[in-house]
Amino acid sequence: MSIESVLHENRVFEPSADFVKNANVSGMSAYNALCKEATDDFQGFWAKLARELLVWNKPFTKTLNEDNAPFYKWFEDGELNVSANCLDKHLNTIPNKVAIIFEADDGSVTNVTFKELYHRVCQFANGLKKLNLTVGDRVIIYLPMGIDAVVAMQACARLGLTHSVVFGGFSAKSLNERIIDAGAVAVITSDGQFRGGKALPLKPAVDEGIAMGGCESIKNVVVLKKTGQEITWNQNGNANNIWWHDLIAGQADTCEPVMLSAEHPLFLLYTSGSTGKPKGVQHSSAGYLLHAMNSMRWTFDVKDNDVFWCTADVGWITGHTYVAYGPLAMGVTQVVFEGIPTYPDAGRFWQMIQKHKVSIFYTAPTAIRSLIKASETTASTHPKSYDLSSLRLLGSVGEPINPEAWMWYYENVGGGHCPIVDTFWQTETGGHVITPLPGATSLVPGSCTLPFPGIDIDVVDETGKDVPWGTGGLLVIKKPWPSMIRTIYNDPERYKSSYYPVDLGGKIYLAGDGAVRDAKTGNFTIMGRIDDVLNVSGHRLGTMEIESALVSNPLVAEAAVVGKPHDIKGESVVAYVVLKGQRPEGEELKKIVAQLRDWVGKEIGPIAKPDEIRFGDNLPKTRSGKIMRRLLRSLAKGEEITSDISTLDNPAILDQLKEVVK
Ligand code: WT7
Repeated sequence: MSIESVLHENRVFEPSADFVKNANVSGMSAYNALCKEATDDFQGFWAKLARELLVWNKPFTKTLNEDNAPFYKWFEDGELNVSANCLDKHLNTIPNKVAIIFEADDGSVTNVTFKELYHRVCQFANGLKKLNLTVGDRVIIYLPMGIDAVVAMQACARLGLTHSVVFGGFSAKSLNERIIDAGAVAVITSDGQFRGGKALPLKPAVDEGIAMGGCESIKNVVVLKKTGQEITWNQNGNANNIWWHDLIAGQADTCEPVMLSAEHPLFLLYTSGSTGKPKGVQHSSAGYLLHAMNSMRWTFDVKDNDVFWCTADVGWITGHTYVAYGPLAMGVTQVVFEGIPTYPDAGRFWQMIQKHKVSIFYTAPTAIRSLIKASETTASTHPKSYDLSSLRLLGSVGEPINPEAWMWYYENVGGGHCPIVDTFWQTETGGHVITPLPGATSLVPGSCTLPFPGIDIDVVDETGKDVPWGTGGLLVIKKPWPSMIRTIYNDPERYKSSYYPVDLGGKIYLAGDGAVRDAKTGNFTIMGRIDDVLNVSGHRLGTMEIESALVSNPLVAEAAVVGKPHDIKGESVVAYVVLKGQRPEGEELKKIVAQLRDWVGKEIGPIAKPDEIRFGDNLPKTRSGKIMRRLLRSLAKGEEITSDISTLDNPAILDQLKEVVK
């Protein structure tokens, strides 16, 4: 998206009087009052919310501990259980309300009430207890999207086991690295998963991942029977394999929640950074849940009769905060979907909104863009062919939404009357940090608008000094907030250097994105990552990770990876490769391209496969040996190199690298 197009965007959409009247945060005056409250008494603001929204077993007396900053602690002497806050709390009030409307890949629907979900979580937790797990043990969850994934996460939370969900699209190798880094003691997986009408294997990746070595910590592999595929059994070294249904057989359906410190690590979630190694982002219990709930209330404006649908997989942070925790804690009915947006055709989302009378719909720009394209083909894929009148609010997340896609979403899905909340946040922030509040904020297509109340977010220069509105700079958060990342698991130094760099004074959180505030309104526009992180279809990928994967291939001497703008995916992956020895031509070279793409798929996961590979005898480097990525990005876009290349050691190489091997 060109930044200019957003900065010159002059369409403004005010919330309707009706929406404002009924909104949880009603009107700009209410928004401003909340912001003022947070400015006047920062700790008091969060303490009040934490007392109002969370059920405490032991109340906290201290709101924020900054002694060991930037390792902040929130509500630290309080005790609670996250699962009890999501389930037990509702048993006397809304036991028979539907918690989850589950739609399977094949379209079949299963409803689960809060009470039923509570019993399923308890029973599975009792099963897990048999495995001799102790509070704080790390458990990997590698499951398809569905009720069971939520049950597994909630059961871990109930027992104080720190879960680490690994997206089902990640490879055996990625799983292996995460198991080792987390020192996990168990894996919860399934035989396979249904996607797009096909049964795909899952358990084999666990077997393979463990067999790669270093996973001695894994004592148990729990396997859910999902597809009924043939699987190998007990192929995991010392790890015991047990069926989920055997584990819970005869188990009681109630289970006391373990009361834990507010700071107890609820989960680790691995995400990409600017080095080759993914970071285990560690989240807390109370502070995390607080923001999950409060953002459900303020950003999504949830009411008792809403049907909420967040399309994210629980393998990502969005599926943690806005599927597994936020909606349950708020007692909201939600749709959970196993399948993909294009099966049986690209009308699936619209058909499901109609069928389940979804009122709040939250998805990613990449999905919207691909569905725009599809909607032009047949009537059954066009949102206008469906009754979407149940919708009252739309959301977007994962990457900037271009104004054209925003307008299409607004008009064709929202019928021109649903506000769109373009929510900016990150794995590390736990929940929304910049977003419109739908009954208050004036919407501008392409802008995520204003800070969530209490989040002190701003734009600064490389030295940490404020830049004036209208000038681009680094996006930072100047005060801690309850749902913030607590550390990078196993690597506190990396936490400090990545997020609290000394260049900025060491006291403000560096988000890693460039941003600019509108000179008049103060609205934020995100300009994309400033580090070597790509955003491909809303998935975060480190260029270094893909480079390390490529150079680990015996054919490859050197590799550099950059992003290139892509209509649907936002960004696509372009790899520049120097082969060892003589470079073949024609068909032989094409074979190598296919081999390398597969290789990256196996090393990381299919989402990381380069879209394009280009070859050269060398990479463009400065005389000091630094790869000039700026040039590689221009080349990828097909731009003529007009900038100064006098510092380039080997200018002739640029011509070679223009050619794409298809
Ligand atoms: C990065 C974080 C937050 C859940 C999904 C992604 C980009 C995210 C937006 C948005 C512009 C956005 C940023 C951010 N991003 N939402 N609304 N507008 N950019 O989580 O994988 O941790 O990625 O996604 O670049 O830093 P993540």
